[in-house]
Amino acid sequence: MAAQLGIGIVGAGVIGAVHAAAVAGVDGARLVAVADPREDAGRRLADAHGAAWHADDAALVARPDVDAVILATPSGLHADQAVRAAGAGKHVITEKPMAIGLADADRMIAACEGAGVALAVIFQTRFTRDAVRLKRAVEAGLFGRPVIGNAVVHWRRTDDYYAANGGWRGTRALDGGGALMNQSIHTIDLLQWILGPVARLAADTATLDHAIETEDTAAAVLRFASGALGTIQGTTAADRDWPVRLEIVGTEGRAVLQHGALTGWEPRPGAVDADLLTAEDRALTDGWRADEPMGTGHQRQLRAIVAALRSGQEPPVPGREGRKAVELILAIYRAAETGAWVELPAAR
Ligand SMILES: NC(=O)c1ccc[n+]([C@@H]2O[C@H](COP(=O)([O-])OP(=O)(O)OC[C@H]3O[C@@H](n4cnc5c(N)ncnc54)[C@H](O)[C@@H]3O)[C@@H](O)[C@H]2O)c1
Repeated sequence: MAAQLGIGIVGAGVIGAVHAAAVAGVDGARLVAVADPREDAGRRLADAHGAAWHADDAALVARPDVDAVILATPSGLHADQAVRAAGAGKHVITEKPMAIGLADADRMIAACEGAGVALAVIFQTRFTRDAVRLKRAVEAGLFGRPVIGNAVVHWRRTDDYYAANGGWRGTRALDGGGALMNQSIHTIDLLQWILGPVARLAADTATLDHAIETEDTAAAVLRFASGALGTIQGTTAADRDWPVRLEIVGTEGRAVLQHGALTGWEPRPGAVDADLLTAEDRALTDGWRADEPMGTGHQRQLRAIVAALRSGQEPPVPGREGRKAVELILAIYRAAETGAWVELPAAR
């Protein structure tokens, strides 16, 4: 196993701070540098963790003591920053969405493959014990044949949230979308992770309550490649954050995952639901609690990524996996724009 992994964080905003705190609790990794053009924010985060500050990612990836970078910047910046990091021979750990276009996602994947470095995408909701249990139960046919899968994200985001840090959220250029590309993407990722690829979809989007360029509300109808149907609803215009819901209905049962925990569990009568999890599933979700605070999921995923990098394995949620939710969301946007059904995989 390699020595301690030196981590550099690019972006010292909300989620950069979450990563810095999470890295501090990961064995085998230490934060060595933070890059952010906002000197006060960058220095504050770096100083709090005994790390160095840089004004830009190019200086950070040039450091010999940085082995891997975490991209915690506005989403539209991830692709160029990932390509620069890969060019400097550093592993890339990017926040979701990995990119806001498929050409960018492919550029990141190619750059990392070409440089022989890893590309991991943060989707911490895949690391809750109940989400993995639901996936394994569906695979094992505990609910019969899936016929419906719904992803429901009814949240509130304030005008201050959209205005913060230069107002990048809700813009086409830097957020790449709104309620779906930024907020609902975790639940959309889980839906396709558990039920498999979507073959076609129809959708509509609207901007109902915020002065932003992109959608604050969206709804889509899906047909999965398996033949099952489904829906996606996402909004940041609700009165508060209602618990996120993922519903799976099968010919012989049903399950509901609410805010990461199973609140509905009705497998087919007589189904054996013990021992669904593999040893790896147990290790990846070790320590999960339904009421855990923000940042714990990030730490679990980072722990798995660091362990994989130190032993030369591919880390969980590689780039080609992270690309799937982006492809699905972009297809929803195209369906909403054209009013037509969109077939997947996307022709590019
Ligand atoms: N996994 C999750 O649950 C989760 C939660 C929130 C945000 N995110 C993702 O994390 C990313 C950042 O979101 P946030 O809410 O932390 O945003 P934020 O605005 O709070 O922070 C972004 C930071 O990036 C900095 N920045 C801007 N341009 C930069 C550049 N060229 N180089 C270096 N730093 C630069 C900004 O100054 C700011 O400090 C987004 O991709 C978002 O989708 C993920």
